[in-house]
Amino acid sequence: MIEEIRKAAELIKGAKYTIAFTGAGVSQESGIPTFRDPGGIWDIVSPEEFGTAQGLISTLLNKPDKLREFLKNSLDTMRKAKPNPGHVALAELERMGLLKAVITQNIDNLHQEAGNQNVYELHGNLYRFRCTQCRDIRKFEKNEALSIFDNIIEGELDISSVMEKAPKCLSCGSVMRPDVVLFGEPVQQLQESFALAAQAEVTLVLGTSGTVYPAALIPRITRERGGWVIEINPYSPGYTELATVSIQGKSGEIMPVIIEEIKK
Ligand code: OAD
Ligand code: ZN
Repeated sequence: MIEEIRKAAELIKGAKYTIAFTGAGVSQESGIPTFRDPGGIWDIVSPEEFGTAQGLISTLLNKPDKLREFLKNSLDTMRKAKPNPGHVALAELERMGLLKAVITQNIDNLHQEAGNQNVYELHGNLYRFRCTQCRDIRKFEKNEALSIFDNIIEGELDISSVMEKAPKCLSCGSVMRPDVVLFGEPVQQLQESFALAAQAEVTLVLGTSGTVYPAALIPRITRERGGWVIEINPYSPGYTELATVSIQGKSGEIMPVIIEEIKK
């Protein structure tokens, strides 16, 4: 494994343009469950009921208690989650001038909390709201957003009380919803992310199963343009056939060692 780590360090050090492409696995060591690992989110609830706008509305109508329990547990998890050594290493790599951008499928804001400045969020951000009518955006502090959610799941959980407690648009007064991408909805910042992937000499793939498109195309674009792919994943890597370097391990354990190796 140390050989692969050295090779990864060498590629990153030698490249003029490195990006990271991350998924739920980078936040696993922050206590946030992934989607598809055993015991993951899609093991506990179904994507049809909890991963689509239509599904969430019918879950709210038909199984409000199940929705409340799921949201309460998720909010507790998010409240406790802090950046782990994998996030911290990516922020350090950016400060060292060795990482141009992080493209993430995560909505947890942990890359920004760790200190990364240039983060592209394909699936949105849980702490940002979007107007359901005019699509205006309102950003909230994490704690502020969490208390909005807390307030919504307390007491009666029905459509009129959710609408009443949700933030309102400052431009048109309509109800706002979390600015996250559910199944069937368009991803965000896709063209910018594809352009970064095409330019990248190295794409570092961390903690994603690479199963959800179009996000999953990112490493493929880098490879097609002649760049290298480095994949770090402990259980089910999504890009084995594509990766120049594959490291079996957790991002929070491997990334700090790569940084040490780069500094040598
Ligand atoms: P998945 O749950 O599909 O994959 C998580 C990956 O992280 C797996 O390959 C694990 O092996 C790996 N993993 C687990 N622990 C890790 C660790 N400590 N370090 C590194 N890797 C680890 O999650 P995503 O690929 O992010 O989208 O899923 C993609 C999208 O599917 C999500 O953005 C979400 C979901 O449905 C939407 O909801 C639109
Ligand atoms: Zn509006």
